[in-house]
Amino acid sequence: MVDAFFPATDNPVSDRYQDLVQRAQRDPEEFWLAQAQRLAWHTQPMHASRSDFTGDVRVSWYEDGRLNAAENCLDRHVLYQPDNAALIWQGQEDGHREVISYRELHARVCRLANVLRRLGVKKGDRVAIHLPMVAEGVISMLACARIGAVHVVLFGGFSAEGLAERLTDSGAVVVITADVARRGPKKIPSKTTMDEAIKLCGAQSAVRNVLVVPVTGADVPMQKGRDLSYTAEVALEIPDCPAEVMNACDPLFLLYTSGSTGRPKGLVHSTGGYLVWASFTQELVFDAKPTDVFWCTADTSWITGHTYVVYGPLVNGGTILVYEGLPSWPQPGRWWDVIDQNQVSVFYTSPTVIRAAMREDDSVVQSRSLSSLRVLGTVGEPISPEAWKWFYAEVGRNACPVVDTWWQTETGGVMITACAQNVAGKPGAAGLPLPGVAVTLTDAKGQDIEGEGEGLLCLAQSWPGQAMTLWQDHERFRKTYFTTCPGHYFSGDGARRDATGYYWITGRVDDVVNVSGHRIGTAEIEDAVAEDHAVVESAAVGVPHDLKGQALVVFVVPKAEGAFDATAVNKAVAAGVGRYAVPEKIYVVPDLPKTRSGKIVRRLLRKIAANDLDNMGDLSTLADPDIVAELIKLVAQQN
Ligand code: WTA
Repeated sequence: MVDAFFPATDNPVSDRYQDLVQRAQRDPEEFWLAQAQRLAWHTQPMHASRSDFTGDVRVSWYEDGRLNAAENCLDRHVLYQPDNAALIWQGQEDGHREVISYRELHARVCRLANVLRRLGVKKGDRVAIHLPMVAEGVISMLACARIGAVHVVLFGGFSAEGLAERLTDSGAVVVITADVARRGPKKIPSKTTMDEAIKLCGAQSAVRNVLVVPVTGADVPMQKGRDLSYTAEVALEIPDCPAEVMNACDPLFLLYTSGSTGRPKGLVHSTGGYLVWASFTQELVFDAKPTDVFWCTADTSWITGHTYVVYGPLVNGGTILVYEGLPSWPQPGRWWDVIDQNQVSVFYTSPTVIRAAMREDDSVVQSRSLSSLRVLGTVGEPISPEAWKWFYAEVGRNACPVVDTWWQTETGGVMITACAQNVAGKPGAAGLPLPGVAVTLTDAKGQDIEGEGEGLLCLAQSWPGQAMTLWQDHERFRKTYFTTCPGHYFSGDGARRDATGYYWITGRVDDVVNVSGHRIGTAEIEDAVAEDHAVVESAAVGVPHDLKGQALVVFVVPKAEGAFDATAVNKAVAAGVGRYAVPEKIYVVPDLPKTRSGKIVRRLLRKIAANDLDNMGDLSTLADPDIVAELIKLVAQQN
């Protein structure tokens, strides 16, 4: 463990940060109303928070304010910097590159917004966006925001079933998809997967139209009356579109994420609070300036992509880079070339990417200039001190601050972090809470832990970026997040606070597995496996993995012993969830360790799968204590 600040510093926090923390503490209402001035409002809010974590739970920010998110990201920048680059799109093939100015991005967003209005999309309607990393992905999100439609961005790696589940739950009326997406040498059949998904929705589908973006120009089946060419439709429209004036608490988007139980949860983010949080955090955490070329490598279908590919940098008037491809394709170090070619100044990525880069020869990163870089960031999983230092030394050339940012889909933006120029980094620790963020660590009895210690990571007060609810299920929202530590929001993570007040994230304490930054609910995996009729039951758990952080392991109990085909389990997961969730390893076992009341003891499965066989604890409470020794033997045999 590294305890000294790195690089060495006497004072880990700036005066500015200290001042912000004090002001936020002294008068939160005044502080957050002042932060709202980052945005352009049609009606200024007179109140900041009307949130309450007790009773039915309410998350409410700037409720009397009115604004439009797309106007905030575009129109006000068109006024004074129309020719500045808003979006640089870099394709994965050399020569595929486009620089889109604020004026041009505004025009393209308006054309598409007009198309959506013509197709009957109204304020509050949901529009699903299912695109790879192309400019149209950003344009589609902003076009929805412009007319008050709620965007639901769906990951390109979801299976047809995964898409269908989210289309049905959200009730999307229009879908924007690609003909075919590129992923390194592979082609991903976006349109045909979407066709299948809509078919699976059957009578429950609300989808009236599908707009198809010609990403590769491939010939794809088009259903008459329903499917339309994106290019042909936008060509019919004018580059201007009046924005819908929204209430601050109207939803800007829904985003699905995995939890410990059941189906994916559609988190609902607000227009005003979310946008204030995107602006505040992007500026403070990354020390971002409008002159920065800001590259957040996340896919736009994750919250990181929403807040730091799209809304944060654009609301603050910067230039975003959208890169289509993989880190090391067609050659190792491709992303370093992308940084050099586009003069990227802020680079925000994941520990998985850094761990993969560390495995390459050091000459790969050392042969690139990387002199445009100013600030580095990571997100999504804990980063080891070794990886942090490698990132700092090799990519940042010992000159760029590294910010390890802890946050979640639910929080809308960064919560605990170092801040470039304002809060010194410490390798392996996430850092300090941002001003106004009331982090607490709680013990198993629900008591707050003071000073140094380890506990459940909770938030005692709302913050502007907090999701307001779960789509059409406020009760599930309340139960999921506000019952473990009553009166607090519980994150699902554990953390440790050190003597300097820095937080070290220890990982999920619930049944969520974090594979390369992808949040995967074990229940989703088990539901998919249950579709295989040769299976009696299964249990999915996470185990430590060198490259992915965690890997998914599934224990399967087949109906008939002997001729069970474990690859069928992979197929069931690929079909039910998506290829990205296919387990690393499947163990075929005769039974699972259970309590006498029949509850699967996952703690034991995690230890057995990780070959961590010390301290197995008291086994006498199991219905069949002998099963543990048998599982240990079977796992060793099957490895
Ligand atoms: C994990 C991504 C350690 C954590 C923004 C959290 C992290 C989950 C970090 C949220 C970090 C995120 N250090 N763990 N810096 N950042 N996590 O919703 O377990 O996709 O609960 O949001 O990722 O994942 P999500």
